[in-house]
Amino acid sequence: MSGNAITQETITHLIQQALQARRHSYAPYSDFQVGAALLAADGTVYTGVNVENASYPAGVCAEKTALSKAVSEGQRQFTAIAVAGGHRQEDSTALRDYCPPCGVCRQFLSEFCAASFTVITARSVTDYRTYTLADLLPCSFEKRQLDRTSGAEV
Ligand code: THU
Repeated sequence: MSGNAITQETITHLIQQALQARRHSYAPYSDFQVGAALLAADGTVYTGVNVENASYPAGVCAEKTALSKAVSEGQRQFTAIAVAGGHRQEDSTALRDYCPPCGVCRQFLSEFCAASFTVITARSVTDYRTYTLADLLPCSFEKRQLDRTSGAEV
């Protein structure tokens, strides 16, 4: 399923950026290297990689890195993200599997990204799938659930 109308050229560019960024992944424990490229509404692209840690739970995912970089530079509106992941030994331009964002990353993205935000999971520049964030995270927990005054329906 597709999300916002983004051009083929944009999709290709984001996948290229995600594959390129993946080279900087720090994944000595899982050996699973992930790259992400997040497109802000103003056209700026923020890349991210997974950064693992000897204390395993302290590691961060590529998507979280990219969104944190973007928000820390003042961005709040986003259009799409491309994600590419696979083991270090794989052909880095033709990965074995699609790498959908994990549940925590879906929730992390939902703080700033609309239901129509496009998520691209890519094995290569020409082999990918697209979803909306709503496809991947229906019934998300949002700010409004924390509202003390109005009764938000679940
Ligand atoms: N990983 C990501 O970077 N993004 C995801 O959405 C899935 C998992 C990373 C976390 C960990 O460093 C490695 O992939 C294996 O789980």
